[in-house]
Amino acid sequence: MHRVIISGIGVEIPEASIGNDELVASYNAWVEMENPRRVARGEPPLSKSDSAFIVHASGIERRHVHTLDGILDPERMAPRIPLRSDDELSVMAEFGVASASKALADAGLTGADIDMVIMSASHHQRPYPAMAIEIQKAIGSEGAAFDMNLGCSSAAAALHVAFNMVRAGAQRRVLVVTPELITGHLNFRDRQTHFIFGDASVAMVVEQMEEGATRAAGSFEVLDTRSWTQFSNNIRSNFGYLLRAGQDDTSIIAMEGNMITQVGNKVFKEVIQAATQFISEFLADNGLTTSEVRRYWLHQANARMNAMIMKLVLGHEADQDKAPTVLDRLGNTAGAGAVIALKENHEDLKPGDHGLLCAFGAGYSIGAALLRKL
Ligand SMILES: CC(C)(COP(=O)(O)OP(=O)(O)OC[C@H]1O[C@@H](n2cnc3c(N)ncnc32)[C@H](O)[C@@H]1OP(=O)(O)O)[C@@H](O)C(=O)NCCC(=O)NCCS
Repeated sequence: MHRVIISGIGVEIPEASIGNDELVASYNAWVEMENPRRVARGEPPLSKSDSAFIVHASGIERRHVHTLDGILDPERMAPRIPLRSDDELSVMAEFGVASASKALADAGLTGADIDMVIMSASHHQRPYPAMAIEIQKAIGSEGAAFDMNLGCSSAAAALHVAFNMVRAGAQRRVLVVTPELITGHLNFRDRQTHFIFGDASVAMVVEQMEEGATRAAGSFEVLDTRSWTQFSNNIRSNFGYLLRAGQDDTSIIAMEGNMITQVGNKVFKEVIQAATQFISEFLADNGLTTSEVRRYWLHQANARMNAMIMKLVLGHEADQDKAPTVLDRLGNTAGAGAVIALKENHEDLKPGDHGLLCAFGAGYSIGAALLRKL
């Protein structure tokens, strides 16, 4: 068995961002246009969204978006991302390459040093060819590449796979890429979810410690990883390739109802319980108490949720130093969130310090990696 390190992390956060007030104004402008139509059809009017509710319920103040154009337009409320020809780098691969290049630079490597690319994200632009293969080509790497998806646990699950492949010697260096371009699939006309998500892309170089020996100082050794899943419909996206086959002869593909839906309060309660148990057991199995972990980089869905998980895990409240938050300025960036928290909050850790990366989300799914600073 080889020792395994994360030798580089790359984070790409798009420049454009949207504050709660702008988002709510656009939603409410649409509601004002929509309600007379609903009333005329005999349907109940929609309630307005509210910035104060969003901050209180989720802790999110703003989110960065890949493409701002179109999102705030009440007539559209979706980003305008022009389709590209098959000869061009696809939008999702391009977003992935942006973080992959940064991760490679962080590790002091080039694409040619990578022998496997795993693209793992909660939304995929297409079924095939795998985006991972497109990214592999774009960064000039050889070997194998494939796509994975495990909702918001996508990066953690890919890290689980990469860690075990590298540990077993099947691969030398695996690049895990998680481009989360969620706004393309977000229903900005759904009051329950319109404020939740933001876009970001992350990447990690996972390699044998011997291969990265000269670059290992200051990086993280991966001591263990784990994945857990349990079926739930409380976070679901039905957008998929069988939609077309399911339409009647005269209908066009209905988008409404096939985008992200979420029973947020159920997810909140059920995932807190599952994540708390998962973290405690995972650490115990690795001979650590929860207080021995110097830092927790948790999934960035909800500040209150993380606070409760930390309180249950530790037996007392955690501060920003123990469990840093990035969702206040980035929203829920799905699989990318915990990795961004790690990237932005690790330099003060001392050699020997333990940290836990833990993501949770649709599936339900939970994924974690126990890290030790070198
Ligand atoms: C989504 C989330 C922020 C909602 O917060 P919440 O406190 O659970 O809110 P609820 O859904 O219970 O709604 C409470 C009330 O606010 C209302 N509300 C919902 N969205 C609103 C909005 N945008 N503006 C104003 N009011 C809103 C609801 O209609 C409800 O009103 P009611 O009590 O009159 O029925 C929260 O549940 C959450 O983050 N859940 C976990 C999500 C998660 O981890 N997902 C993982 C996938 S990545």
